[in-house]
Amino acid sequence: MLVTAKQLMLDAQKGGYAIGAFNVENMEMVQAVVAAAEELRSPVIIQTTPSTLKYASPEMFYANVAAAAKAASVPVVMHLDHGSSFQLAMQAFRAGYTSIMIDGSHSCYEDNIAVTKAVVDACHPAGVPVEAELGKVGGKEDDLDGGDGGYTVPSEAADFVAKTGVDSLAVAIGTAHGVYKGVPKLDVERLSQIREVVSIPLVLHGTSGVPDDAVRECIRRGICKVNYATDLRIAFSTGLKEYLAKDPDAFDPKKYNALGREKVKEYVMSKILVCGSNGRA
Ligand code: 13P
Ligand code: ZN
Ligand code: NA
Repeated sequence: MLVTAKQLMLDAQKGGYAIGAFNVENMEMVQAVVAAAEELRSPVIIQTTPSTLKYASPEMFYANVAAAAKAASVPVVMHLDHGSSFQLAMQAFRAGYTSIMIDGSHSCYEDNIAVTKAVVDACHPAGVPVEAELGKVGGKEDDLDGGDGGYTVPSEAADFVAKTGVDSLAVAIGTAHGVYKGVPKLDVERLSQIREVVSIPLVLHGTSGVPDDAVRECIRRGICKVNYATDLRIAFSTGLKEYLAKDPDAFDPKKYNALGREKVKEYVMSKILVCGSNGRA
């Protein structure tokens, strides 16, 4: 069933686990994520970035996810990832998305507060929760280059949450979007300091390439939503390449897409186990 992220995240916070949030690019990836969640009896969040929504519309992705969620017995959330403007946030909201991220972290502090508050005011009357970001997650997410990032300042986080009424907060503690060159060094002390002054669920971005033990440590310190994108793209492409290497004359997309779908499902199942949300639905 399709649900909002609100109660799922609060349950995760209380239970000391996290909900995995997985970025999808096509129908097969939607099917893979839902099948993985179904098999492990886990709630799950499916999300699309602005560049994905340039490739196909929010309505197109919403229809795919709504159909998969309707057939599933576990709760599924349809989330806008890194909403880059008030307009895009409203477009996803109108398409039926059940959770919205507005990412004003590339603007100055005051502008981030203003755009986040505007999205909160538009979404809350319909019961749709909002995620925001404070500080900059490094690396390259779609067309947006986060650069070297700037870590979230705990006292600012408390002020930001109070002024915006946001439901969850993405924190910058040393993770980066995309593939890491070495092993990322996470400032988990900072995460605990943020947790002390902010009571809403916290979100970890850039998790592809973060060692599973480091993710578990972050969950223990207050992370309730864990975002994975790059590694799903890699898993899907790996399946395709494997199939086409064995059968270069294949011309039926169902054949090679099915192997991509299988690889994504395996990956998502392994990360649901890291999040500890298995058996929670
Ligand atoms: P990765 O691509 O590093 O997994 O980051 C995912 C993310 O933060 C999506 O918002
Ligand atoms: Zn992100
Ligand atoms: Na990453």
